[in-house]
Amino acid sequence: MHLNILPTTSDAIAACTAHLAQQLTSKPNSILGLATGGTMEPVYADLVAQHKQGKISFAASTTFNLDEYIGISANDPQSYASYMAHHLFDHIDILPEAHFLPDGANTDSAFAAQRYETLIEAKGPIDLQLLGLGPNGHIGFNEPGSDFASATRPVDLTASTIAVNARFFEPAEFQPHRAITMGIGTILRARSVALLAIGAAKAEAARAMIEGPTSQACPASALHTHEDVHIFLDADAASLLTAKPTETRNLA
Ligand code: F6R
Repeated sequence: MHLNILPTTSDAIAACTAHLAQQLTSKPNSILGLATGGTMEPVYADLVAQHKQGKISFAASTTFNLDEYIGISANDPQSYASYMAHHLFDHIDILPEAHFLPDGANTDSAFAAQRYETLIEAKGPIDLQLLGLGPNGHIGFNEPGSDFASATRPVDLTASTIAVNARFFEPAEFQPHRAITMGIGTILRARSVALLAIGAAKAEAARAMIEGPTSQACPASALHTHEDVHIFLDADAASLLTAKPTETRNLA
């Protein structure tokens, strides 16, 4: 695990964005695994800005998102497909047929999940998988207790994840409680992984991921079993680590 602790939130976002841009520059036809959520909004804004400045192109890349809600259509404004269009795909030069998300609208979500796993296997491996971190240690929507070998599958979100994500929904709006997520096993098959966590709300999960036992209780601790993982934290997310506030460490 390569641990990068940056002094400010914007430094952590910039470091993670630079890592992604470097991947695209060194391999323009990279297969990228992408995440959604509040953490990634400034990352995608930075990537869009770099694209508009002519520094990076997505024209030869392929992307696979980690997850999608079950029970809403792709064109619902709350779908992760809409999130990706709004924050990234509508503003870059990626081909429309080169970005993929699970099909959360399919009434047979187990079938849709398996089809997504098969597609990743056929087109993959993913070169770089981008991850956020849930306050409960989830990666994708692999909630605590998820098997480290799990494949893409339909899952029930925990009450805490539903509560944390309620901020993205209006009070009377339908909030999905289920999702299709890449499994931990799917994520671990990526050639490399970059995880970004910012803010004090992620401090306990970051501590458990980095310094706690490798255990299903913290899904992100599975990343200890992968040989090329880059973690980007701001000082608040790193505040419960025994490490000094600003440093780069390599952990076995
Ligand atoms: C999103 C995803 C989730 C989020 C995590 C953090 O596709 O898979 O694991 O990365 O819940 O979300 P934010 O960034 O909103 O704190």
